[in-house]
Amino acid sequence: MFTQNEQASTRGSSKNLNRSIAIIGAGNMGTSLLRGILNAKIAPHDKIIASGIHSEKLERLASKWKIRTTLHNRDAVVNADVVMLCVKPYTIGKVIDEIKETLLESQLIISIAAGVTIEALQKRIGKKNPIVRSMPNIASTVDEGATAVAFGDSVTEEHAQMAIAIFEAVGEVVVVEEHQLDAVTGLSGSGPAYIYMVIEALIDGGVKMGLSRDVATKLAVQTVLGSAKLVKISQLHPAILRDQVTTPGGTAINAVHELESHGLRSMLIDAVATATRRSKELSELITKPVQPQ
Ligand SMILES: NC(=O)c1ccc[n+]([C@@H]2O[C@H](COP(=O)([O-])OP(=O)(O)OC[C@H]3O[C@@H](n4cnc5c(N)ncnc54)[C@H](OP(=O)(O)O)[C@@H]3O)[C@@H](O)[C@H]2O)c1
Repeated sequence: MFTQNEQASTRGSSKNLNRSIAIIGAGNMGTSLLRGILNAKIAPHDKIIASGIHSEKLERLASKWKIRTTLHNRDAVVNADVVMLCVKPYTIGKVIDEIKETLLESQLIISIAAGVTIEALQKRIGKKNPIVRSMPNIASTVDEGATAVAFGDSVTEEHAQMAIAIFEAVGEVVVVEEHQLDAVTGLSGSGPAYIYMVIEALIDGGVKMGLSRDVATKLAVQTVLGSAKLVKISQLHPAILRDQVTTPGGTAINAVHELESHGLRSMLIDAVATATRRSKELSELITKPVQPQ
């Protein structure tokens, strides 16, 4: 089995896996992964099939991305090396019931369904397929996703590298223990919501101080984007970067004091902790119906 300590390498561009991939449920995340897989040339167009429940949507998808599509999940799974379960958590049990007779134990299953455990998936499938459980986030739609993956017992290093390559096509990937996926949900899964609030508040601050909303929006968005990029590229601790922009007696240190007195950092830590606890609660609720019926 692939050990969790073998961390993901750098973003895998143009890593042609030469494998057939079935995307079950081509919605927001499924389509985003499809786009990433094609753009990074992980698999050629003719080796990808997507399934769904509305023929018009599938026709549009087939025409846009030059892939095969089907209304029948079972047909999508036949001949696939990798089966990506991209449906909502409450649909996944039904989908597994449709495909499990057709599934071969050699097929790698990758689930993006929030909260559904590897154990529940394995039991519902009833076979020893290698299973990768993942928690991507919405930024995958712009290739800046933050995805964590956890591996089931039958996952080999080759399977792990395949899953990592797929998610690296739409952003950064980390490997975690499955129990840590709740914390991942609390941080990067739910995190975009926190950052949108920060951006919104910065815009309002600019408007309050007399900037037009358009100008304030442009400045706020670029400030968040640029600050994150600087942390990533410089690999410096954010506190060091903060110190670099706080001139003694200047504007930034006065604002930092204001943020500290309102407990900004404690609030964000609490937000991650609360979302992590909620993820655990929801996972327990979601996983029950996915168990064998
Ligand atoms: N969105 C996020 O930010 C995010 C982040 C992390 C994880 N996730 C996980 O990603 C999964 C998908 O989320 P999403 O936001 O992409 O949802 P979504 O846009 O609703 O996508 C789900 C897709 O599944 C299709 N579908 C429904 N029933 C099906 C069936 N029986 N067989 C095949 N396809 C079926 C839907 O078709 P129709 O559209 O035609 O109904 C839809 O295209 C969820 O499990 C969620 O937990 C999402």
